[in-house]
Amino acid sequence: MPEEIFTGRWVARWAAELNASERYRQAAASWEWPVVFVLDDDSGPTGPRQVFLDLWHGSCRAARPASEADRAAAPYVIAAPEAVWRELLTGDLDPLIALLHRKLEVRQGSVLKLTRYAAAAREMVAAAARIDSAAGASDDGAGSVTSLPPGPGRRAPGFVTTSPEGLDHESLPMRLYHKAKRIGIWNPQDIDFARDIEDWNRLDDLEREVLLHLTSLFQAGEESVAQEIVPLIAAISGERRVEEELYLATFLWEEAKHTEFFRRFLDEVAGDASDLSRFHGASYRVVFYEQLPVAMGALLEDPTPEAQVRASVTYNMIVEGTLAETGYHAYYAMLERNDLLPGLREGVGLLKRDESRHIAYGVFLLSRLLATDPGLWPGLERHMQSLLEPALGIIHELFDAYEVVPFGLEIDDFLDYALAQFQKRLARLERARELTPDQVMADLSGDPELEQPGQLSG
Ligand SMILES: [Fe+2]
Ligand SMILES: [Fe+2]
Repeated sequence: MPEEIFTGRWVARWAAELNASERYRQAAASWEWPVVFVLDDDSGPTGPRQVFLDLWHGSCRAARPASEADRAAAPYVIAAPEAVWRELLTGDLDPLIALLHRKLEVRQGSVLKLTRYAAAAREMVAAAARIDSAAGASDDGAGSVTSLPPGPGRRAPGFVTTSPEGLDHESLPMRLYHKAKRIGIWNPQDIDFARDIEDWNRLDDLEREVLLHLTSLFQAGEESVAQEIVPLIAAISGERRVEEELYLATFLWEEAKHTEFFRRFLDEVAGDASDLSRFHGASYRVVFYEQLPVAMGALLEDPTPEAQVRASVTYNMIVEGTLAETGYHAYYAMLERNDLLPGLREGVGLLKRDESRHIAYGVFLLSRLLATDPGLWPGLERHMQSLLEPALGIIHELFDAYEVVPFGLEIDDFLDYALAQFQKRLARLERARELTPDQVMADLSGDPELEQPGQLSG
């Protein structure tokens, strides 16, 4: 029998679980605000059940059914119907996602501040779930591979382009491929950095430091994606998807140019040869030193759809679709607003166009995989959710490094944009579950995001 939630006994046990959790102690080390949680649709004689937790630097100093006074005074009040709380406790719903989708309603307090405590929230939910052993976690869907599907070196003999099949020029990958040849041809060495050098010399130390910091994130990010795309190309090639393989050839080439471009800026404008990995914080390292190489490298041995989903979610949806899009958008807007570094701005503008094709391919690939097997959705959604926290952590790390960030950069602009991109991608993919593989192509063809002027057509 599941324990009745939001009772006095339950909240006391919750507090005990929290205080026994080393993970919670670390994740909530800087949290110092009491919270009232409200079970919203409880129509009992005493009104909605609500509990008060006095959470202070990784421990729970007091826990009780909340009074109206507690509720009025609490800096944070978070409410949801019982069904949502149950979903959280069984692990079917991630607290951060629940927050972003407003399944958890923040009636008092800052949603943005809550997003930086996602790990603490997750541990709070885990602690509450431990109260009730009946609330088991669901299977993560990452089942073991029992037989190797087609992959690198396991292709059937023969060639598509000498078969009657030929090439499907109307397919989305081929349209991206043609597009890349038409508008993706630019040479990082042609960009004029003359005024950038003048601008750089006029900047103060803090401004240069922040620009170096941002550039170090972009530089390593581009090198990382240039390196890590290769196993995906091999997996796709192993399935004899020639149109996709042709497009991916442009993709790799573009990542190589992006890598070259930022290094040219560092060499010729910033004149910096120091070890810039000093700017790579813990969250950055989780994404770029661990998650991305692991997800992509796994394809070499395991090119199954499940592994492709994890790879493409990490690479296209999080690294490109959330982080790079946010970073380049904010960077470009900042340079434009301050009329600074026109060469850097020109390069970032060109690179953004390339990235939009990369993300379009990622949406296509994941949609195709989902349309073929909708059962991939839970694993996809979970993987995406698990990466949101380190992705947002990278933004927090950047802003935490400075008391005042120059150029009018605001953390909320970054976070808002990143969350919007994340949610847009997730919603887009959720739709693909309902479609057949043929419908995916038709659906993508009409997708306004993929058909922006100057992107796919034209
Ligand atoms: Fe790139
Ligand atoms: Fe890219």
